[in-house]
Order: sequence, then structure tokens, then C-alpha cells
Amino acid sequence: MSKGKLTGAAVAEHNSKDSCWVIVHGKAYDVTDFLPEHPGGQKIILKYAGKDATEEFDPIHPPDTLDKYLDQSKHLGEVDMTTVEQEEKTADPEEVERQERIKCMPSLAACYNLMDFETVARSVMKKTAWAYYSSGADDEITMRENHSAFHKIWFRPRVLVDVETVDFSTTMLGTKVSVPFYVTATALGKLGNPEGEVVLTRAAHTHNVIQMIPTLASCSFDEIVDARQGDQVQWLQLYVNKDRSITQRIVKHAEARGCKGLFITVDAPQLGRREKDMRSKFSDVGSNVQASGGDSVDRSQGAARAISSFIDPALSWKDIPWFQSITTMPIILKGVQCVEDVLRAVEAGVQGVVLSNHGGRQLEFARSAIEVLAEVMPILRERGWENKIEIYIDGGIRRATDMLKALCLGAKGVGIGRPFLYAMSAYGQPGVERAMQLLKDEMEMNMRLIGATKIEDLNPSLIDVRGLVGGHAAPVPFDTLTVGAYDPLQAPRFSEKAKL
Ligand code: LAC
Repeated sequence: MSKGKLTGAAVAEHNSKDSCWVIVHGKAYDVTDFLPEHPGGQKIILKYAGKDATEEFDPIHPPDTLDKYLDQSKHLGEVDMTTVEQEEKTADPEEVERQERIKCMPSLAACYNLMDFETVARSVMKKTAWAYYSSGADDEITMRENHSAFHKIWFRPRVLVDVETVDFSTTMLGTKVSVPFYVTATALGKLGNPEGEVVLTRAAHTHNVIQMIPTLASCSFDEIVDARQGDQVQWLQLYVNKDRSITQRIVKHAEARGCKGLFITVDAPQLGRREKDMRSKFSDVGSNVQASGGDSVDRSQGAARAISSFIDPALSWKDIPWFQSITTMPIILKGVQCVEDVLRAVEAGVQGVVLSNHGGRQLEFARSAIEVLAEVMPILRERGWENKIEIYIDGGIRRATDMLKALCLGAKGVGIGRPFLYAMSAYGQPGVERAMQLLKDEMEMNMRLIGATKIEDLNPSLIDVRGLVGGHAAPVPFDTLTVGAYDPLQAPRFSEKAKL
């Protein structure tokens, strides 16, 4: 045994509610008193009482969590990891199959669009990670509507325009970017990739696009900022803490570290109910019940609920002046969903809004951002307010044509979240970079095809929004005659051995 280090056996003795030690990254921690406060419930900690919890801990907790939230007196020091009993891992058949599928994955070059990454990710991601990323609220109707709403808008292209040179660079909150999308904030990056959000930082740098840093990232805020290169620009997405002094510290720190925009999330006073996520956690709860003697903490709400209990449901318009008083960063409200609130945001003097329903993860039957945008812009123009505020949208954007429709309507840019997570989960940084490149390629071609050479050329006369006018009329009946005649579109192919 190395001198001064704790042994695995010594840690293993503290394996109950009365005395609970855990090992994380080779160090032991006494979490006995912390058990009732753990936002994820005590069961999950008790499952690892006296053991190494690193693998479970990592994706859900930024690395500075223990320093921040666990008193130094509970940091017990290093453990001689050679003395820690390795748990016999019984081969989980699901995991074995997943590993087989990973071996047969399609090459990155076989992914031609953003949906391809999603199809591959679905097959190769861990079930719990996939469930967390891909789930939406209730019946996932808003989530699907987010993408399908784009199908209600068609183009009115101009022909015989000299489109030899096309430039789709633009500015967002004063920052020059190469293309009008940004990487929007999504939580828990390490569920999909062991390196987490810094992978997105690097890819964003490669393509000169902005990354919005999530409050609930797996990496720490500073790690994500440290991964920045050159004059790369990042924004901060903020969940507002009940304890405003914590919020103030976060905002000031982000500003000091050079963040160029503060995106306050306003659509999540309580996190939505995502049943797929909840179900995938359910088996975990079962095993915890056995391990911990069946205490009654309910962890069945999935990862999201566990990590978000600090969010302040009392946040209101009254708080906006306070935010304006504590930062010089532009303030953008993320998650606005109707004209009235956009007008109110202008009156409140914020610099922008993101029309968003949180990827269909919050209020079921919230309308798609593109539909809200179509309603908002004419009213802003009527009042001469269209330049008073920058309007962004997110949700369901998978193609450059989606992006173009939003820009024609008057959006300054669009946020893309899940597709980059899927690309990162399946193929790492090269995957995210390819996804971004594909969007740029689509953008160049489609700008040419609608007869626009620069972003300023995009305007409402290039689109036909009559499909939106009927509101939520019944969809066109399914054309059964074509079913037998059309070949379904292909997803990238796994090699023969794979059991899909
Ligand atoms: C979610 C939060 C954490 O949608 O943004 O899961």
C-alpha cells in the first residue's frame, strides 16, 4: 500500500446510510451528511457507498462539483486504487449488442445530412443517454411539430440572378460569424461523449460559429471557456438560481471570462416531464432499491429533474432590471413563445429573444418557433421595431432550407442543439465538424437556388407562408397510392454483422 493513502478496504467499511464514503477519481469523500441534500436523491449515492462512483458521477457532475458543494472537511484524501476491489461486471446483453453495433458503424463520410447522425446515434448511444437527449414532453407532439412546421413554408425563388459568389456570413449580437447558426445550449454533454461540451467548442471554432455554454454542462464553465481558441466567441445560457447571489456570481464570472451574451432561459420554471427519460431511469431505481434497502427517494423523474431542482420558478419580468444592473453583456430571453412577450421584451430593453419551446421538452402543444416567428415579424415591422431587437429561433432545424425560411421571415440566426449532440455522440469532433460543413454546403446551394447572394437578400417575398395561415388545420391525408411506388429514403448503412 502506498504511504498516506486510504485503502479500498477502509473505504468499503463506510457503506451505509450511517456512514457513507465514495471514491471519485481516486479520492474518497464522506457524503453521509450530504445524502439528504443530493439533488439526485440518496439512492444513487448509496448504490456506490464504499465504492468507486466515478463512472456514474462523471457525466452528470462538472468536475468542480465536489469542491463547490462538499465541505473540505469531508474530502478524505487519495485512495490507493490498486487496493480497491474491482466489481465483477456482469456482461449486460444490451451493452454487448451496442458494442457490436459500434464495430459496424457507417463511416462518417456516409452521413449526408443531420438526420443521418441521429439515426446512427440512436443505434450506438447508451440507452439512458439517448433517452435523455432525444426525449420530449408528454406525447412528443411539439417536438415533432418543431421540425414538421418548416414543411408548411415553401420557396418563391428568383431566377436569373447572378449567384456565382454566395456569402452567407452574418453578425449575431455584433459578432461576425461564418453562417447564421449557433450551437445552442444542451445539458450533460458527457452522456454522449466522455470529453463533453469542449468537443462542441472545438468544432465551433473550426467553423467560426458561436457556442452557447449551458448552465447544466457536464464540463465546468471554466473548462469550456478554456477550450476556446483565438477570438472565438461564446455566450452563456443561464438557469436562474433561487439564490440570486449564486446567479450574480455566475453572470459576473461569465462576463469577466469574456462571454458576449447572456441568454436567460424563461421557458423552464419547472422542467418538463419526459417519459422516455423517466422510463430509461426506472430500471436504475429498481437496482438502487435492492442496494439501499429500499429507501423511498423517487429518482424516477430522470436525469433532468435531478439536476435542475435549483431553478427559480419565481423568476419574473420584475427581475429583468436587476440583470441589466449586474451585467453589461447583451441580455436575450430564451424561450419566448408569443407576440405579446416579444413586445414586452422590447419594452424591457433586452437586446434579443430566442423564440423557442426548449426543443419540445417543456410545454406540450407549445407552438413551433418558426410559426411564432411568422406571427411576430409583421407586427414588429408594423411598429417599426424590427431593428430594436434581434430575434433568434431554435427547435427542429435540420436543413439549410429550414434556416433560410427563418431568415427570410426575419430571424437573425438559428440555434441548433440536438443534431450536434448526436454527431458528437456518434463520431466525436469530426462528426460535429462534418455536420456543420454539411449545413454550409446545403446553405451555399440553396442560396443559389432561391436567387440570393447574401444574407441581406433574404426577405419575406422569397417564401410562401400560406401553409401557416390555416393555423393548426388537419394535415393533408396520407397519400396511400404513393406508398407502394416510392422508395423510402435510406439511412447510412451499418455493415452486415450488425443486429439493428
Ligand atoms: C433539459 C434542460 C436541462 O431540457 O435544459 O433537459
